[in-house]
Amino acid sequence: MLVGKLITFEGIDGSGKSTQIQLLEAEFEKMGITYQTFREPGGTGLSEKIREILLDKDNIELYSNAESLLFAAARAQLTVEQIKPAIAKGECVICDRFTDSTIAYQGYGRGLNIKNLEMINNIATEGLTPDITFILDIDPEKASERMKAEAPDRMESAGIDFFQKIRQGYHQIMEQNQSRCILINGEQSQENVFKEINQLIMKRFKGELVCSN
Ligand code: ADP
Ligand code: TYD
Repeated sequence: MLVGKLITFEGIDGSGKSTQIQLLEAEFEKMGITYQTFREPGGTGLSEKIREILLDKDNIELYSNAESLLFAAARAQLTVEQIKPAIAKGECVICDRFTDSTIAYQGYGRGLNIKNLEMINNIATEGLTPDITFILDIDPEKASERMKAEAPDRMESAGIDFFQKIRQGYHQIMEQNQSRCILINGEQSQENVFKEINQLIMKRFKGELVCSN
């Protein structure tokens, strides 16, 4: 029976997730590995609509519990509509953010109860857990410097203190999930970050990734 893999990328905004995912996609293409990529919130028609609400700067009054449940609703739809079917086909699913983002942002960032958020995550994913999670670790000042050219969305407008809490939150998540989560120094060059990630994936999943030919 084919069993696909779920690889997730986590870290504060501007930590380099999208950049690393593009490099991984190029590597998978070179190797003929079948994969699909999704970003959270998003990845389905409904989840993209929820994304618009969540990132819209006009929704400044969005209450933290409502925010958490909207992220969870987007995740629930993505999990059932896209991620689970792809994994069942033996494909490799790459996710730009997943459950750990809710724990880091709504839990450690906004201060909501972590146990409740874990329960909400569990409902949204029907218990699906990533096979490996890369947490790109970077000083929020440096990440903010990288993103200076882009207009900030609702989340990114929150300020450096918020992102410091999230960064520390990711450190806690890593401590508590050591077999799944790997903390990577995201302040290195793109090439060096990718070298680490690629080596870890190849070491962990050697021979298990499904090729299209
Ligand atoms: P994220 O998806 O985590 O928000 P991005 O991959 O979009 O982060 O990167 C944010 C910005 O930083 C982009 O302009 C990108 O080109 C740049 N960047 C990404 N990785 C690095 C790196 N290792 N060193 C310097 N700049 C980087
Ligand atoms: P996005 O632009 O995709 O992230 P990035 O800038 O890292 O590429 O925006 C998604 C935002 O939503 C980001 O600020 C993180 C936040 N978020 C949460 O607060 N909770 C969640 O569960 C998820 C999935 C994202």
